[in-house]
Amino acid sequence: MTISFEGQAALVTGAAAGIGLAAARAFAGAGAAVALADVDEPAVRSAAGALAAAGHRAIAIRCDVTREADVAAMVGQVIAAFGRLDAAFNNAGVQVPVAETAEASGKDFDQAIAVNLRGVWNCLKHELRHMRGQGRGAIVNCSSQSGLVGTAGLGAYTAAKHGVLGLTKTAALEYAPWGIQINAICPGPTDTPMVAAAAADHPEHMTTLIGQIPAGRLGRPEEIAAAVLWLCSPGAAFTIGHAIVSDGGLTTQ
Ligand SMILES: NC(=O)c1ccc[n+]([C@@H]2O[C@H](COP(=O)([O-])OP(=O)(O)OC[C@H]3O[C@@H](n4cnc5c(N)ncnc54)[C@H](O)[C@@H]3O)[C@@H](O)[C@H]2O)c1
Repeated sequence: MTISFEGQAALVTGAAAGIGLAAARAFAGAGAAVALADVDEPAVRSAAGALAAAGHRAIAIRCDVTREADVAAMVGQVIAAFGRLDAAFNNAGVQVPVAETAEASGKDFDQAIAVNLRGVWNCLKHELRHMRGQGRGAIVNCSSQSGLVGTAGLGAYTAAKHGVLGLTKTAALEYAPWGIQINAICPGPTDTPMVAAAAADHPEHMTTLIGQIPAGRLGRPEEIAAAVLWLCSPGAAFTIGHAIVSDGGLTTQ
């Protein structure tokens, strides 16, 4: 299946690395003008520069998704650069140290919620203010397999990712009548810098985890990106408030 985003503009948050970078590349490869946003300014400038050097329309935006003013400015920069916003992937997220609930720190809890849940809400709010006026658009929020099941040691992350599905369903109902399709992606363990960092901290957990994945391997960022592009395509126009699970069968068991 070939999906074209020719003549359209896409925004990806957390686009400097991992799943977000793969999605930005995929949107660009499908013909979209792409805005890559990330809190890591040097990395996102380098990523957007590489896409531009390859002949794509790409801009870098420094944005901390926890800051609503940054997010409002980010959407404004996309419109200023491309004149439109057709597809948005609210992907930026962080992992916080593994700790049982009785031992977890409030600071880590607040950070996980600020980036992974409030950050998605900030993005939804300001993207929708624009898309509502356009009368069309597509948004994908990044949840996780941890949005579907409990994850021992990752209470705040799991709570945030469950919350993303609640936000997604609610916004999807609110904006389906406006012609805006809003869905979520639930990646399973995927080969990105986030997972590499977790593997470095807890190599024994990672080996056990991979052993539990029916597909027998980590996901590839490009596989998650492919699902995101489909959710943003006209073929998914009747898919509203859904969560696509791409986890090698982990949560099917
Ligand atoms: N990799 C996995 O196994 C996996 C599994 C399930 C869900 N996810 C989710 O997928 C998304 C991407 O994960 P990844 O593995 O590619 O992570 P990653 O750490 O490899 O990349 C995340 C990117 O987000 C950026 N970022 C972090 N905080 C930010 C903020 N406040 N504002 C803007 N950008 C910020 C980082 O700078 C980085 O470039 C996250 O939401 C994550 O929770 C990942």
